[in-house]
Amino acid sequence: MKILFAASEIYPLIKTGGLADVAGALPLALRNKGHDVKLIMPAYQGILEKVDPILRSINLGNPFGVGDLRILETRIKENNTPIWLLQCQALYERDFGPYVDQNGQDFADNHLRFCALSWAAAKLVVDTSISEWQADILHLNDWQTGFAAAYLASWKLPHPPIVTTVHNLRYNGSFDMHKFADTQISYDLLTMHGMEFYGRFSGLKAGLVYADAITTVSPTYAREILTPEYGDGLDGVLNAMSDKLTGILNGVDYQQWNPAKDEHIAQTYDSNTLDNKNANKQALLQENKLNQDTSQLLFGVVSRLTEQKGLDLVLQALPEFLDTGVKFVLLGSGDKYLEEGFLALEKRYPQQVAIRLGYDEAYSHRLQAGVDVLLIPSRFEPCGLTQLYALKYGTLPLVRQTGGLADTVFEIGNTANGFHFEEANKEALSACMWRAMEAYRQTDKWKQRQLNAMQYDHSWESVTDNWQDLYQSLISKD
Ligand code: ADP
Ligand code: GLC
Repeated sequence: MKILFAASEIYPLIKTGGLADVAGALPLALRNKGHDVKLIMPAYQGILEKVDPILRSINLGNPFGVGDLRILETRIKENNTPIWLLQCQALYERDFGPYVDQNGQDFADNHLRFCALSWAAAKLVVDTSISEWQADILHLNDWQTGFAAAYLASWKLPHPPIVTTVHNLRYNGSFDMHKFADTQISYDLLTMHGMEFYGRFSGLKAGLVYADAITTVSPTYAREILTPEYGDGLDGVLNAMSDKLTGILNGVDYQQWNPAKDEHIAQTYDSNTLDNKNANKQALLQENKLNQDTSQLLFGVVSRLTEQKGLDLVLQALPEFLDTGVKFVLLGSGDKYLEEGFLALEKRYPQQVAIRLGYDEAYSHRLQAGVDVLLIPSRFEPCGLTQLYALKYGTLPLVRQTGGLADTVFEIGNTANGFHFEEANKEALSACMWRAMEAYRQTDKWKQRQLNAMQYDHSWESVTDNWQDLYQSLISKD
């Protein structure tokens, strides 16, 4: 099958969260099964250094009046995946993240930046003069590429089936109506049954409404988003389309995340040499100049610091545990009040708490290998990848039972591989952390949980059949 996979971030080119991991690894897994997958993403600043020399450059003209759009055909250096980079200096060549400026504010022209990406993806699947390679499936991801479904609906041209994957419903890519004229999308689509969303227009809603299939990244989240509590205002739309909605759990790229061959960590290990994990704990404590006693439990967090992740509950719960001597390391960045809260905790417990603000891929591996328990108390979690990485590293995840966390972390019975709690409050989190503390004292049982965690196969290879079946069913219907 020929699949065009469109995303706003793709590892190892650029990453702010799990979407990049998925957009890097799922296409690779599909290619390994013999499918012909190409990627499309903006040529953000610095990206050209991470791809092969450009094979072909195609000028798509200046449809948005901000400068010419060019498609650069190349491959990702690290893994040889074919990619079309959308180049437009005015839109993409900027410092800082793919979505926000140095102050963490969304770029004011994000609607244009991602309409242009979506427009180019849509063009590529209908216009043979741009590319002879014609996709059998167009796979969109989140709001940034959801507009592609709107362009295709506007143009009323024959096009391949569209799959839209929701990685996070909270980010609906909605914009003020006065910006709609910039998009070049037909006003016919601006209805309640189209892409209008509470008086605004939404890229994610377009991606849902005009898709042939909607997927999300875990079975539990697929059910949750049909409720007002988790639906973020789109539950009505999703309920109306529930026959085309499925949940397919994300996988893990074990080439990247594997303690047996991880080049970032102090000491490699696997389930037969689990005792070596302790050297990573030691190294992590040393690196952070914390008290070197490894006998006490070490909690960790690797996360975006946003309301979604429930880390305010960790801030409330931690002091009573720190008072018993446990330790805590965090890697993350995001909301100022959380950053400041964690820094204050570090100041209060300098021997036991290490906070690293910012983004650091290598340190995220060292942290996963070094800590005993990874805290993920998310208010909602479409899939969650950090718990899957933790499992592979024999690091027990402690999670709120929601979304993909509920599908992958178990506390009771002979598959127990972590700890979980239900209510999103400090008391429930605290009680769960006490259970983890108690379990840590029972060495044999702890080790059994670690082995359960490490043995479970969450590879992409284990889920590509689901993707193949979905794509095939759409092609057969077409
Ligand atoms: P989300 O996509 O909601 O942020 P996921 O658990 O799906 O959550 O994916 C998060 C990804 O981002 C993981 O690969 C995690 O290791 C990584 N990550 C999060 N914060 C940081 C950080 N500060 N530095 C390095 N990697 C990070
Ligand atoms: C989103 C979600 C996260 C998921 C990731 C990849 O960022 O918040 O739960 O794992 O996308 O699908």
